Amino acid sequence: MKRIHPIDVILHKRDGLTLTDQEIRAFIRAIVDRTPKKQLVTDSQIAAFLMAVFLRGLSPRELATLTEAMRFSGEVAYTEALNTFTIDKHSTGGVGDKTSLLIAPILAAAGLAHPTPEGVPGIVVPMISGRSLGHTGGTLDKLETIPGFNTQLSFAEMRDVLKQCAASLIGQTPHIVPADRILYALRDHTGTVESAYLITASIMSKKLAEGLNALVLDVKVGSGAFMPTYEKSKLLADLMVETGEASGTRTVALLTSMDEPLGRFSGNWVEVWECVDIMRGTRHPMSRDLIELTNILSGWMLHLAGRACTPEEGAKLSDQILHSGEAYKAWLKIVAAQGGDTTIFADPAAHHIPTATRTLTAPRSGFLTSMDCKQVGWAVQRLGAGRANPGDLVSAHAGIESHAKLGDRIEEGQPLFTLFAEDEALLDEPEKMLRDTLRIRSKPAPRPPLIHEVITANEPKPAIR
Ligand code: URA
Repeated sequence: MKRIHPIDVILHKRDGLTLTDQEIRAFIRAIVDRTPKKQLVTDSQIAAFLMAVFLRGLSPRELATLTEAMRFSGEVAYTEALNTFTIDKHSTGGVGDKTSLLIAPILAAAGLAHPTPEGVPGIVVPMISGRSLGHTGGTLDKLETIPGFNTQLSFAEMRDVLKQCAASLIGQTPHIVPADRILYALRDHTGTVESAYLITASIMSKKLAEGLNALVLDVKVGSGAFMPTYEKSKLLADLMVETGEASGTRTVALLTSMDEPLGRFSGNWVEVWECVDIMRGTRHPMSRDLIELTNILSGWMLHLAGRACTPEEGAKLSDQILHSGEAYKAWLKIVAAQGGDTTIFADPAAHHIPTATRTLTAPRSGFLTSMDCKQVGWAVQRLGAGRANPGDLVSAHAGIESHAKLGDRIEEGQPLFTLFAEDEALLDEPEKMLRDTLRIRSKPAPRPPLIHEVITANEPKPAIR
């Protein structure tokens, strides 16, 4: 067989030619097979390839092949062996976005209620999550505030948890999609992160390595989204749906608002606390948008899994599962199976022990009309809940509590945010960032819709709200 040289792959992409499947597979193989002694492809060649893709884009076939090559560059989950319906949800990242902590137990409860003839839950959710990135929070950082909770399970251990609990929440290991680890590290330093094509291959290769029958994507739009415009978020959603479907996974994307923090709290333990409260039946008014989005996303998942005739019926079923206490039972089961100490949920507020707290109040009366949600996310990160550099430790107790939502009528002196940190000195900068980004106007402005658009493999559907 003719040898494929990395330089030829780079030249072809640079010059706008369409890469063959063999070229793409050989390039990805060279990336993972190289050793310090055997540089099958150098870092500078990978960087050049990434920039060529960034500038030229990829055809649907090239994107599907790149994603598949990356997906199979390491271990895959083999959840197919469980012979059940496997589904997951992925969000492109937000502030206070903790829907994963609710959706996994909701779907798990649905799966446990209807086992297969072999006694396996009828639905399983093998969720691989990430850590905080930039201004956005990370599910793993939140879960790791639960004493003993082990996110570093092997795929074999994850399958055992799935058989017992129907959901498992784990982190990426060096053996899962190693090509993405190498590419992502280089993208970070070469100005090639914000490519919808490279983001699609990165996210979808990891999700598809879970062996999914279906996937629901929550693609954020608005001031707190990673993608800078609605059009770019939509392109990303379209590409992810197309790529998921090309691999045989039923894929649906919802374009959802990230113009303000989702729910009541943003941080780490505080977000777990908010979810535990919801699963135990407390409906705090500040959690309303979180509960609604959770039910809409779970509703789509229950629909795709065949448990509801429509996504709307699925959303109702999701709400019932949440309120019946079944989701909370499933949550306790998952946490215990992954080594977590469930006694901490008896009184979650007692475990929120920031050493420094400050409340930001409204300087005038009016309507809360806008904020730059990305700035709010950075404020949460600076309080200690996120990372300035990869590998930094995050604080369990840092974060913010929101006391008002966009569109709310505000009275002068009313609390807007409470800030939590582990050091008084960490409060000043985030307080200024939050103060500078909030806009209180005399006239109300319309609230952005929670769901903008639903994208399926066929025609985009009208907004479901
Ligand atoms: N998250 C990922 O996993 N990959 C990207 O490229 C961007 C966000």
